[in-house]
Parts: sequence; C-alpha cells; structure tokens
Amino acid sequence: MKEETISILKKYHQEHILEYNLTEKQQQQLEKQILSINFEQLQKLYENTKQAKNIDKKRESEEKKIEHIAYTDKAKMSKELEQELTNIGTEVIKQGHYAVITMAGGQGTRLGHQGPKGTYALDTIKGKKYIFEIIIDKLKKAKEEYGVAIPWYVMTSKDNHEETVWFLEKNKYFGYEKEKVKFFKQGELPLIDTQGRVILDENATIKEAANGNGGLFEAIYKNQILEDLKKHQIEWIFVSNIDNILSNFVDPLLVGLTIKEKNVIASKSVAKANPQEKIGVFCKINGKPEIIEYIDLPQEMAEKVDEKGELLYGDGNFGTYLFNQKVFEKLSTAKLPYHAAFKKSGYLDINGKFIEPDEPNVYKFETFIFDAFSQYNDMTIMRVKREDEFAPVKNRTGNDSPETAVKLYNEKYK
Ligand code: UD1
Repeated sequence: MKEETISILKKYHQEHILEYNLTEKQQQQLEKQILSINFEQLQKLYENTKQAKNIDKKRESEEKKIEHIAYTDKAKMSKELEQELTNIGTEVIKQGHYAVITMAGGQGTRLGHQGPKGTYALDTIKGKKYIFEIIIDKLKKAKEEYGVAIPWYVMTSKDNHEETVWFLEKNKYFGYEKEKVKFFKQGELPLIDTQGRVILDENATIKEAANGNGGLFEAIYKNQILEDLKKHQIEWIFVSNIDNILSNFVDPLLVGLTIKEKNVIASKSVAKANPQEKIGVFCKINGKPEIIEYIDLPQEMAEKVDEKGELLYGDGNFGTYLFNQKVFEKLSTAKLPYHAAFKKSGYLDINGKFIEPDEPNVYKFETFIFDAFSQYNDMTIMRVKREDEFAPVKNRTGNDSPETAVKLYNEKYK
C-alpha cells in the first residue's frame, strides 16, 4: 500500500488492516476505499459510544424541556373543513406539484428476507403482491383519480440498489410509467468493532452499511434529485417507509392542512396502541418539534397521561412525512446527530476465515430523518386511524409481521 494510505491507517489505529494477506487486486480496491472514508468522523463516533450513556442521557433530559405537541385529529375534523383542505391539496396534485419518495435503503434484517424489502411477496385477497407492487397500485389509482402520473423516487443503498432496479425493470414497473420512476442511492458508513476498528467483509473490503434514513437529505442533494424536483416544479414531497403496506401517500388532505397551517413539514401519526408499542413519539423539545425514537423513550415518559387519562406522548410516528421542496434545499447540508446501534455482523478474520458471531460485535451509525424537524419551529401533525393507514411488515413473525399486515390489508380492501 502507498505511504499515504498506511499513514491514514496508523493515524486512526486501523493498522490491523495491514496484517491481512490480500491479493494485489484486493489491496488496490481496499486502498481506494480507505481514501474515501472519513476516519476522523468515524473516530469521533467511536468516542461517543464510550461515554457513560445513561448519565449523559439523564443530564441531557434534565436540560431539555419536553412537552406534548399539538395535533389535528382527522376523525374530529368537520366535513366542511375536510373538504376545503382536500380541495387545496387536490389542486397541488392535479397541477403536478406533488411527488412521492419511498425510503427503501434499509436492510430489513428483522424480516429475514434475502433481498430488498420491496421485493417481498405477500399473499393478499388481491392475490400475491410484492410490496413494490402494492405501492405502484396506489400510484396507478392516483393517476386515475387526479389525471397525473405522480413522480416516484426510490431511495436505495449500495447493498440493494442494483437488485431494486433490476426487480422493477423485470416486472416492467408493474404497469407504471417508467419515466416517472427514479432511483437514488443513499450514503454509507463503516461498521466498527468495540475497539473502534473497521472490519472486513468476505470480499476483503471494509464493511459499510447505509447511514440511516436521515441520509435522505444528503442523498437528494448529491444525486441531483433536488434539481429534478425544481425542474419539474414539485412543491410537496411525501416521504414514506417502504414497509407500511397501507401507507396513504397521496393525501390531499394532509397537503391542504399543512398549507393552511403555513408549515413546510408535516407528518401523520396514529394513537399509540399501548405505552410499550415500538414506535417513535412526537413531542416538543425546547419548543421545537421532535420525535423520540422508541429505543430512547424512558418508560416513565411512555406511560405519562394527561388530565383525560390519555397518553401525553401518545402520537406515534409511522414513517409518513410531507416536506416542502424548500426543506430539502435547507437541509441538503444539515448535520444530523448519529445514533449508534450495537449489532451482529459477520467479518473476515486475520486468517481469511469468515466468522459469523453469535453476539453483537459492531456499532452501526445512523441518522434519523425526523431529527431534522427541530430545525423548524413548528410542523403539522395529522392523527389518522391506524386501521386505515398503518400495516407494517417488519418482523418475520408476531407483531408487525407479514401475517398481521396482510390481515389489515385484507380488511381494508375486502
Ligand atoms: C421507523 C421509525 C419509527 C417509527 C417506525 C414505524 C426511524 C428511524 N424510525 O422505525 O420512529 O415508529 O418506523 O414503523 O425512521 N431506511 C433507509 N435507509 C436506512 C435505514 C432505513 O432507507 O439507512 C428506511 C427503511 O427502508 C424503512 C424506514 O427507513 O423504510 C424505517 O426503517 P428503520 O430504520 O428500520 O426504522 P424502524 O425501526 O422501522
């Protein structure tokens, strides 16, 4: 390896890489990758994992003023208002100022499906349906309703990009206009072990993983999607998780409400099924809108109720957001905080053997899309009925599994 590469590895305590017995081609490939990695940032992220987390969290929450956030309940809206707002949103869609982004860069490890989540097939009352097909069904229906083919952008990651494109090509975009579909890749970050060292994958490259759905903002900018949105005069962009097969992502009412409330960010919410449900919750922190992710929500806060006995932090996030184009402009270079997760990951050992560990062994770093909300003073939140819009496919069995999601889907479309 070149002197420059060796000195980078030494500087950041990654000399173990030099001990591997690699072919010339592997070395070249690795060298190129090393020069593209921001080791300075990685080192900082590693140092953060070592801090006494609980003490820090406690101190942090003492300094933070956390409050309930206001929301509009769709079920309690008057018919007149609902119609007025729907008309506003309908106009936006009909004029072609609306687009949809599906975040499909995740790994979907919990589901145990080999391949992108969108390529997972479900047995529904409408027959066998791939998740991507279910999304396209809705885009096609919207085309009938509004007379426009809504542009659809799919965020992928290095791991699943090619397979995603290939799958949709093979299936001829399930009958949707190919020109309306664009793919863009999000960024990634290396995984590191408990000593801050990168690990090698089977093919002797440094193992990296998608950098979380907060990577959306940077990816939109870097892949000229922002330019594309501007070129096509798209003002409102709905961003949705891939795994919710009831996601109602063409929603004129939400658009109308957001415009009426003069906000540039909106999200739908569902009432939490129970305090322990694993969904993020909306709140205000120091006056700014935020979501506290389920893993970070203290039990005491999860169970807190208001004077009516309703959960104070009872508005659950289900990954359905609306952004004005201006938001992407502002957030294209935003620095979002990284969340570290301790995960299991296979790696190449020094003897060239691939090891599958039984216990978590690496840190994975992700930013979250909703950590950007606090850059604004307010946002629109519209609470909807869970049975109408939320059927996630996350786990292989049990809660939020294909079985529970299909049941909800069948109920809705019967
Ligand atoms: C997510 C929300 C959580 C919400 C729940 C509802 C986040 C961080 N958390 O949890 O607040 O209650 O959905 O179902 O969003 N993705 C990428 N790239 C990545 C990582 C994820 O595109 O690098 C996509 C996934 O493909 C998926 C979505 O982001 O569409 C959320 O995935 P995940 O990170 O697994 O979050 P959840 O735990 O499902």
